[in-house]
Amino acid sequence: MNNPYLPMSVTIKKITIENEDRDIKTFDLGFNDKKDADKFKYTCGQFAEISILGTGEAPIGIASSPMDKELVQFTVKKYSTGVVTSALHNLCPGDMIGIRGPYGNGFPMNDFEGSNLVIVGGGFALTTLRSLTEYILHEKNRARFKDITVLYGARSPGELIYKSELKQWDQREDINIHLTVDKGDEKWKGRVGLVPNVLKELALSSKDGVALVCGPFIMVKYTIPPLLDLGFSPERIFTSLEMRMKCGIGKCGRCNIGSKYVCKDGPVFTYKELQELPNEY
Ligand SMILES: Cc1cc2nc3c(=O)[nH]c(=O)nc-3n(C[C@H](O)[C@H](O)[C@H](O)COP(=O)(O)OP(=O)(O)OC[C@H]3O[C@@H](n4cnc5c(N)ncnc54)[C@H](O)[C@@H]3O)c2cc1C
Ligand code: FES
Repeated sequence: MNNPYLPMSVTIKKITIENEDRDIKTFDLGFNDKKDADKFKYTCGQFAEISILGTGEAPIGIASSPMDKELVQFTVKKYSTGVVTSALHNLCPGDMIGIRGPYGNGFPMNDFEGSNLVIVGGGFALTTLRSLTEYILHEKNRARFKDITVLYGARSPGELIYKSELKQWDQREDINIHLTVDKGDEKWKGRVGLVPNVLKELALSSKDGVALVCGPFIMVKYTIPPLLDLGFSPERIFTSLEMRMKCGIGKCGRCNIGSKYVCKDGPVFTYKELQELPNEY
């Protein structure tokens, strides 16, 4: 019988330092067994349990696009008290770790077809939205979706992650990119302002629109009212929850909110679904 807790073996192929504080890194992982690579089919918004032998495991959102067949990527912030994230940040290319998944529901990409997408990210929570944006921009997918607008904010210019991807997206004509920082510096020529305020200023149309919001809890909380004011309905606003988890597969009861298991029924929920849940997240 298959043991659902058994991780697959992967090798770290590349590590990218994403921010000035050097505590956010993207890990490119390659499966050591081709059969595992073929089995690991995921959709945007799903997560996996990343494990380090003798240390533990942690749920991490998948940052790569499902169109990337060779590698799977994760962007991880090191918490000073974080057991797994600290250990992971000490590893080097060539080191082996474990992965089990993919888990969770992910974004209902097929339901977004023919819609204008407003993608709102804050801080390092852009990870699964990066997966989604790269997926949509793929030449095989772009025609399935209408206008794409990305609004991404961070505390400071040095904390904006995925700088090379943001540059590539900005050079394209089929996506609108708006970057903002809470506080600029002498080199920053861009916008300064909090994400919810910039969203109000942009006054984007909600016609045929879907909004996808991932960020620190406080940012998400203050971003939803302007989206509702713009006319996005609660069932067309999506976000992803980061509850404490253990098993990741709906067995241990660690992550439940009311009748929902975030690891299985989520982590992606519409705002309408969240309104119907007890306020425990
Ligand atoms: C679906 C999902 C996707 C995630 N995606 C990412 C990702 O892409 N990148 C990333 O860096 N992290 C992500 N996380 C968060 C990550 O799983 C946690 O921070 C995890 O606890 C880190 O493991 P650790 O062993 O390093 O930290 P731990 O030793 O478990 O904890 C470190 C410290 O952070 C606190 N803490 C950790 N997680 C939470 C939480 N959810 N709520 C409140 N306090 C918490 C702990 O109390 C402790 O003080 C995700 C979590 C979920 C559920
Ligand atoms: S983490 Fe165990 S039930 Fe969700």
